Amino acid sequence: MPKLIVVNRAGEERAVEAETGLTVMEAIRDNGFDELLALCGGCCSCATCHVHVDPEFASLLPPMSEDENDLLDSSDSRSETSRLSCQLPFTAELDGLKVTIAEED
Ligand code: FES
Repeated sequence: MPKLIVVNRAGEERAVEAETGLTVMEAIRDNGFDELLALCGGCCSCATCHVHVDPEFASLLPPMSEDENDLLDSSDSRSETSRLSCQLPFTAELDGLKVTIAEED
């Protein structure tokens, strides 16, 4: 299974194996990172699944929708690498993807 590297809010890094077909949010949540609240369950309406994505992988990610962009705008910790992890399908191509859980708003 491809690996996903998750950095939590304490700066601790952990590599997890994640099934493809899940979203990055589901892969993070299913591996016990309870900091990632993902309150809306992946409907792109809460922004509590906000992560910063390693820029190396930026070109492999799907484009951002207007809704995702608007929601990220509501976050004080938005950066150039911000994405909502529920909007990122985890594919084999993304093996080794590193994401950092964003600060809580
Ligand atoms: S889980 Fe709510 S926007 Fe991603």
